[in-house]
Amino acid sequence: MMNLTLKIWRQKNASDKGSIVDYQVSDISPDMSFLEMLDILNNQLIEKGDSPVAFDHDCREGICGMCSLYINGEAHGPDRKVTTCQLHMRKFKDGDTIYIEPFRAKGFPVIKDLVVDRGAFDRIQHAGGFISVNTSGNTQDANAIPISKHDADKAMDAATCIGCGACVASCKNSSAMLFVSAKVSQYALLPQGQIEATDRVLNMVQQMDEEGFGNCTNTGACEVECPKGISLENIARMNREFMKASIKS
Ligand code: SF4
Ligand code: FES
Repeated sequence: MMNLTLKIWRQKNASDKGSIVDYQVSDISPDMSFLEMLDILNNQLIEKGDSPVAFDHDCREGICGMCSLYINGEAHGPDRKVTTCQLHMRKFKDGDTIYIEPFRAKGFPVIKDLVVDRGAFDRIQHAGGFISVNTSGNTQDANAIPISKHDADKAMDAATCIGCGACVASCKNSSAMLFVSAKVSQYALLPQGQIEATDRVLNMVQQMDEEGFGNCTNTGACEVECPKGISLENIARMNREFMKASIKS
């Protein structure tokens, strides 16, 4: 069992200045998840009549992309290719001090404590992250469209992006290019994605810029911290798609 000091960002609302507040938690099992450890802290706070720490979560299975948290200076904490909900307390030691902050970026304003507004990602998706499908009843069976194994694998790799925003939080430029390039790539590699290909990349990149995210300078922190291992090669593909679309339009 572990006793820990937590230094947590508390911020009442979007306009509050916010600050780090110290908390102690005890008897933490190494088998608990990081969010279960925060649940214990919140139970303590509620019992004392204090306001619990607000943080995002939903599936707690590494699928939904809701959990965030900047833990000891790393998005999703010290483990690799896991989300905060799948991070376990065995990655820490008895007596550790753990800093817990929200994902910080101009495009992700803090709503409360550790919760940020990632609506910018939804607006980027709405700008082009979809395909047209004939639903008249004469729809061609997707399995009847030949796709090479190589392209199918690359498209599937890109499609594993869960939209968590760790790439933005890890980037010194707050760039969203890993996220946007994953969403562009998953369609760019498939025949089904070709109908809107030109508009998709132009509109998604334009929306990304309007949301205030920075540009990519090839630092690679996004790829290191991404819980789904999304590769930088997707950014190169998005740049090629953008060039092609710019010439066509
Ligand atoms: S690219 Fe990775 S870090 Fe960025 S939103 Fe997708 S899953 Fe999260
Ligand atoms: S809560 Fe769904 S990915 Fe972490």
